Amino acid sequence: MAEKPIVSFSGVNKTFLKDGSLFTACSDLSFSIQPGEVVAIVGETGCGKSTALSLLLGLQEPSHGSVRVLEVDPFKDFHALKGKLGIIFQNDRLLPWRTAIENVAFGMEILHISNSERMQRAAHWLARVGLERFSNSYPHQLSGGMRQRVSIARTFALNPPLLLADEAFSALDEITATALRNDLLTMIGEERKTTIFITHSVTEAAELAERVLVFGRPGRVLSEVRAKDLIATGGTHADVASEIRESMKSARSTSAYSVA
Ligand SMILES: Nc1ncnc2c1ncn2[C@@H]1O[C@H](COP(=O)(O)OP(=O)(O)O)[C@@H](O)[C@H]1O
Ligand SMILES: [Mg+2]
Repeated sequence: MAEKPIVSFSGVNKTFLKDGSLFTACSDLSFSIQPGEVVAIVGETGCGKSTALSLLLGLQEPSHGSVRVLEVDPFKDFHALKGKLGIIFQNDRLLPWRTAIENVAFGMEILHISNSERMQRAAHWLARVGLERFSNSYPHQLSGGMRQRVSIARTFALNPPLLLADEAFSALDEITATALRNDLLTMIGEERKTTIFITHSVTEAAELAERVLVFGRPGRVLSEVRAKDLIATGGTHADVASEIRESMKSARSTSAYSVA
């Protein structure tokens, strides 16, 4: 059981200088993610979720505490994680001057994978997200949902050991988002990817994750909802969602929700 966690945050604080005074975005944030887990981090907008992600990616240094990702310090050993973290953002971040297949192949260029293998893998993953007929289309010729599918294909083509999605479905209409969520979950299951979904949507967290970390403001874990256990014992996704809402509500009714 005692596998090494893929991600661990221990007593992490992150403060910014904001309008001339210190602002706390994360406070005593501790959690860990085990290999193979599918976890959601859920919390209200502005509670520090994306800040936690940027600490995880090594884009920022914690003010206190430690962050470990795949057993390295992501800030101090930034290059050790190159190509190992697959990220899907709200905005697809495709290059407008490249076709869909060229966008999928792009991430692999950075990893110096040969041209023939890049194109072969890109074609495979574009087909996997249902876009084989659109390989030569440019991003502006695709819908928002299709562009997000291209970015998902680009991420899977790198075969990263850890997948991260930050509000990946927030810009899409509900029907498109639901279809994409289902397809992504299937792909995660098939590829057995350790995944962290970051979202402000309680229903989304309840539908996607085996375990849900409920964040309070400033960023820290208020409670953990074991969705997988709840479902295994006859609970529904709606039950998971109401348990998440309860812990968010109880946090708001205490002083914990005041901005530090
Ligand atoms: N680089 C920064 N400088 C100053 N304040 C920041 C910076 N990054 C984030 N913040 C602040 O930290 C808080 C948490 O932001 P964020 O992590 O983006 O929240 P979330 O992703 O949960 O919506 C916000 O109030 C935001 O304005
Ligand atoms: Mg955010």
